[in-house]
This record gives sequence, C-alpha cells and structure tokens, in this order.
Amino acid sequence: MIDSCQRDNRPKSTARRRAALALAAVGLLAAGGAVVLPVAASAGTTLGASAAERGRYFGAAVAANKLSDSAYTTILNREFNSVTPENEMKIDATEPQQGQFTFTNADRIVSHARSRGMSVRGHTLAWHSQQPGWMQNMSGSALRQAMLNHVTQVATHFRGQVVAWDVVNEAFADGSTGARRDSNLQRTGNDWIEAAFRAARAADPGAKLCYNDYNTDDWTHAKTQAVYNMVRDFKQRGVPIDCVGLQSHFNSGSPYPANYRTTLSSFAALGVDVQITELDIQNAPADTYRNVVNDCLAVSRCTGITVWGIRDSDSWRADQNPLLFTSSGAKKPAYDAVLAALNGGTTPTTPPTTPPTTGPTTPPPGGSCTATLRDGTRWGDRFNSEVTVSGASNWTVVVAVTPPQKVSATWNGTPSWDSSGNVMTMRSNGSGNVFGFTTMANGNWTRPQVRSCTAS
Ligand code: XIL
Repeated sequence: MIDSCQRDNRPKSTARRRAALALAAVGLLAAGGAVVLPVAASAGTTLGASAAERGRYFGAAVAANKLSDSAYTTILNREFNSVTPENEMKIDATEPQQGQFTFTNADRIVSHARSRGMSVRGHTLAWHSQQPGWMQNMSGSALRQAMLNHVTQVATHFRGQVVAWDVVNEAFADGSTGARRDSNLQRTGNDWIEAAFRAARAADPGAKLCYNDYNTDDWTHAKTQAVYNMVRDFKQRGVPIDCVGLQSHFNSGSPYPANYRTTLSSFAALGVDVQITELDIQNAPADTYRNVVNDCLAVSRCTGITVWGIRDSDSWRADQNPLLFTSSGAKKPAYDAVLAALNGGTTPTTPPTTPPTTGPTTPPPGGSCTATLRDGTRWGDRFNSEVTVSGASNWTVVVAVTPPQKVSATWNGTPSWDSSGNVMTMRSNGSGNVFGFTTMANGNWTRPQVRSCTAS
C-alpha cells in the first residue's frame, strides 16, 4: 500500500511531490505486475535526518564537559546523528601515564551518542600532538612499541562502538615538499603509519580505519598529493585503510578550494570512503558551507560531514564564528544553506553491484499498527529504506538487518539497538509516521525485515 497522506511537518512542495509519486505508483500497480517502488527521498527538518536520507551522517565534535549544558545537548540531540569526541579520545586523555588508561570522559560521550542512535567517530589513535609527557620523552623502538600498545588498547576498549577511527592524524608536513612531518613517531621509521593501521585493524576489525589531515583539500597542493600517494600505496600493498578524513578547517589563510570536489572524488576513486571530519569556516559564509555539502553529495563515497563544534562559542576558533549555530544556539544562515543543500542533494545513479534480495514488503501486523517497508535510494555500498506506519501515532517498530549489514544512519524516529547491533527498535519522535534508515550492505543486499509494530 502506498501512503499518500500529507505530513504536516513537511513543506507543501514535498507533499505534492509525494502525492504525485503515489499517483504514479497506483498507475504502475494498475498496469499489472508486482512493482517494487523506489521511494523518492523527502525533505528532512534536521541536519542528521536530511543527511541520512542522502545515505550520509551529519556529525559534530562534542566535549564531555558540555553534556551537562542542556542548551548544548538540545541542539546535539535534535540535529546530529554522529559524534566525534573533541579531545577525550586523544593520547593524553586516554593514557595519561604509560600503561594507565582512563576512558571515563570518552565513555560518557560514546554512551550519550549510542543511546540516542548516533554513530561515533574515534579521534585519534596516533598523533604527534596532544601526547602525554611520558610519550613526548620517548623515542625509537620503545616509542614504537608504546604507540602500538596505545592503538591496541584504545581500539580494543571501544571495539564495536566506533564506526570509524582516525588511526593516524596529521602525519604530513605543510608546504611544498610533500614530505612526512618530522615528529618523534616519524623518527621511529617511515612505516609507523602502516604499523598503526595494522594494529588498529587487529584490535577492532569492524571499524573503518581513516587517515586524517588538514590542508589536504586543494587537489594541487603537495600535501594533498603526498597523502593521495600514501593511500594509493597502502591500497596496492594491502595495508588496511578504509577512509580518508579531510579536516577542512577553512579560513583566509587556508580557504575552501574550487577543486575540493576533485579532491574528494580522487580519493574516493582509490577505493576508500571520504569523510569531512572537522569542518568549520571562518565567518560561516552560507555559500561556502553550501558548496562543501554539495561537493560531498556529488561523491557517492563521501559518507558524512562533521562540524568541529556546535555553537560558535564551542569552537576551538571561537573568534572566527565558524559554525552553524550562534553562541546562543540560534540557527545561522549557514545552517539554512546546509539543510537546504542536504535536502536538494543529487541522488546518485550508481546501480547496486548485486540486486537486492526481494522479500515481502508488508510483515504481519503486530499490536495495533502496521509498518510497511519500502526501498529507498541505493548507492554502490549502501541503501536506504523507508517505513510507513499506519494505525498509530505513537508507535514502536522493530526492524532487523542481516549481518554483516549495519544501520549507519536513521531519520524521523528514535532508535535503539539490541546487543547484536542487528535489531533496531525505532520509536516515534513526533516527526510523523514515516521513518527511514541507511543500511551499509557490506556485501549483503537482503532487504531489512520489519519484525513488529506496536502502538503505545
Ligand atoms: C583541537 C580541539 O578542538 C581543541 O579543544 C584542543 O585544544 C586542540 O585540538 N585538528 C585536529 C583536532 O585533528 O583534534 C584539533 O582539535 C583541531 C585540529
């Protein structure tokens, strides 16, 4: 059955589009045959929901000591579906004394995020900066061992809870040399980066492993080319790497480059995901934010965007007012531009490598409502599903995905997961009767199954 009801939280034009789609569907069905109808993405009203409808996440850097600020958490919980701890997973925070690990603040952020269905990016396992004193004083094979032990212990602690790790951060030099940055880690031998990636893979085989850096946005820069060459080399030699993070701190000294999309697509063409990991833009010009979002949407493997803080007052560069919310929590013009870009983003044309397994679209009703799952947009590695609930406005729907599939983002509901991570319980959150989610196929294109729908 096709839902043609207008949802009052949606713009009229969207409702018209959906009504037209419903009519077209009726026509298709009347023409005979079982038709699996792809659902046109609808417009979301928050950054996370709108990004998820595009198969992407929209995240923020979060500080543990702000989780008690309700103005802060109100925006975080409403707008974002991914979180990166701003400092709490760094080496000085997690291993302040050698061999003594403290995860209290990082765990607080992870549990805040996961209990609300947000994914977590881990930042960062190996870096020349924010090292504890004991590590700063180390060198040679002792440092190499200490670094690998750190990677192993931290990635093991968060195993299964972090979708992507910035395994190594900022290992290349600025300027025209394309050389590695000099650091105590670099002086342990040029292979320190791949050693860190291998240790991270062994400790948490399910996490995507990223290399993350800044000033790698302009395709023509030596630093960008140097990172590109390293990633290509890693892919060729089978060093485990899954993604490249572009920090994308843009300002007058390091502006948004016109060839940014080329950079994103060039990295993606190496067979890695690309993520915009620390976005902030001096004075937050709406046009530049819009360009960044559109560039990401244009590259299928650009899987998400994280802004480096929520309100301007939360920014590490607060004097630049570079974020999407004012210090008092109001949406800035850049926010509106980002939301509109996410809602108007192009849908990719890449067909699935394997057609999805078809299955019943309507499960047996449970309780006093019915949930109908339909296929949404499909990318080369992931797909969206939309579930329409009828018969209740306060509902709980249980959906199961098939391992190794993983739900990477959701919209228009409040999700929670069972311990396997494969069964999602979605509760209505006042956003209407249609919710959706993105599933990473991980090679399996089986349609997710609705297990039950209960009215409350
Ligand atoms: C910054 C934090 O925002 C600050 O609170 C901290 O004092 C220094 O680090 N690149 C990175 C981030 O990878 O970890 C940095 O975060 C910003 C630059």
